[in-house]
Amino acid sequence: MTARVAILISGGGSNMKRLVESMSGDHPARAVLVLSNRPDAAGVSRARSLGVEADVIDHARHPGRLEFEAALTRRLEAADPDLICLAGFMRVLTQGFVARWRGRVLNIHPSLLPKYPGLDTHARAIAKGDSEAGCTVHEVTEDLDAGPVLGRGLVPVSPDDTPESLAVRVLEMEHRLYPAVLRRVAAGDRSLFTLRDGSESGGDGVSAALSRPRVTFEGRG
Ligand code: GRF
Repeated sequence: MTARVAILISGGGSNMKRLVESMSGDHPARAVLVLSNRPDAAGVSRARSLGVEADVIDHARHPGRLEFEAALTRRLEAADPDLICLAGFMRVLTQGFVARWRGRVLNIHPSLLPKYPGLDTHARAIAKGDSEAGCTVHEVTEDLDAGPVLGRGLVPVSPDDTPESLAVRVLEMEHRLYPAVLRRVAAGDRSLFTLRDGSESGGDGVSAALSRPRVTFEGRG
């Protein structure tokens, strides 16, 4: 039984690429659709070249947020996803959208939440003098960047880091963390997973590779 995964993007889609590539072999999920809210997002052609159906639902062509989200939901319903991964998707979602897909939407955010929700996360971490930065995969709820945390990737901050240099290392960590967490969630494991350079740990002390499905997606082939 394989979980169906849709991925929402707005840009280059480097996280999307890593997620798609991870879903092969004995992985408990498959990518069924990539949707972009921006027609010029490089991730759209990238997804197609990876063999995944990709569409654009341009937010600018809808009169408001609700109309845009209604179009998004119609397209998603046609793809019938079990999980929806936001991967560099730069639109805030309304309560109505979150309620429609409750428990199924995951997001990756480039900070160690609850620190630094919103934008400019790396500059804010450096300005605060943090010795550690990173990224968080969380369930999406009505509150921005505040849903239950599923995974954290920790990256040390060097004294000479700039927001740009830190962003490069955090993005590398995102590319490792998001596929690892997606695999666990698709297998029914939502316990906290932590990744740091050279090591990983699940909330129960068991590595991701050893985690066993606790929930399956019934009726999926
Ligand atoms: C990532 O840093 C993600 O956390 C942030 O936007 C960036 C997306 O990059 N929200 P990409 O489109 O996956 O390359």
